[in-house]
Amino acid sequence: RDVTCGIDIGGTKIAGAVVDAEGAIIDEARVESPATDPEAIESTVASLVADLAAKHPVTAVGVGAAGYIDADRSTVLFAPNIAWRDEPLGSELARLTGLPVTIENDANAAAWGEFRFGAGRDVDDQLMVTVGTGVGGGVIIGGRLLRGGYGVGAEIGHLGLVRDGRLCGCGNHGCFEQYGSGSALVKETREAAIGSSLLAKDLLERAGGDADAITGPLITAAAQDGDPFAIEQLRQLGDWLGYGIASLVAVLDPRVIVIGGGVSEAGELLLGPIRESFGRHLTGRGYRPQAEVRPAELGTRAGVIGAADLARS
Ligand code: BGC
Ligand code: NA
Ligand code: ZN
Repeated sequence: RDVTCGIDIGGTKIAGAVVDAEGAIIDEARVESPATDPEAIESTVASLVADLAAKHPVTAVGVGAAGYIDADRSTVLFAPNIAWRDEPLGSELARLTGLPVTIENDANAAAWGEFRFGAGRDVDDQLMVTVGTGVGGGVIIGGRLLRGGYGVGAEIGHLGLVRDGRLCGCGNHGCFEQYGSGSALVKETREAAIGSSLLAKDLLERAGGDADAITGPLITAAAQDGDPFAIEQLRQLGDWLGYGIASLVAVLDPRVIVIGGGVSEAGELLLGPIRESFGRHLTGRGYRPQAEVRPAELGTRAGVIGAADLARS
């Protein structure tokens, strides 16, 4: 069977999968990400690929990486949240693995996975938004992945939402991801918990009394158990996301908006507020077709499945 390997380099984990031509996962593995050291990340990815390729006839490797990838799909030009600057990730991994390697932006890879085999497979025009360490974007227009003139399009996390707003890792102020990411959720929630330990009582208890120990999964778990404070934090995040998405939809007019990334595991507790805010901010609302907001069907595996498929073409 003709199989390729998909890799997703995340902030905390590196995931790898052997995927067939129908997007089915044949085998998979997951390792801790060695922080932000580019060389350590490369050797970790290479050994993950070697392990998988020893067991399966892998013909090519696709890698999703959280940064600006050049038009040749090989060099990471820049990454706001990782120490990659002009990093020749593709050629290094090709040398280390002896296989052809394609690098793709992580959110583009996830968007491609959902479009081919997941929540967007019934449409030709899809916007994917990944909510995690940053805010990632992947845009499919007329069945094609939007890459832009230099390969670095669809960086929706750096859409300017607030003039002179919060400082971003990209050097600008007021970017979407400073308000709509999992990192923003955690930062806001910690501040709110310190500001009102009474309202945050349940969540603080889960965090062992330490506001700095509050994490995304902890907020989601509390919200799922009905804690009003945690539910409100997710609602505020969804409110920002819906606002940013409404602006993007004014430009792109997708049929479907797919919400993925780690924080999307909160499900309706996040999707509901996103839909509500999106509906409230969309231009021409009530007098135009409105794109449907759907959860990622492939979950956190969208990236590896999409990267593996992109490695075929
Ligand atoms: C980066 C993107 C990435 C996104 C999600 C953003 O900060 O600029 O390249 O897709 O985070 O990881
Ligand atoms: Na992207
Ligand atoms: Zn930015």
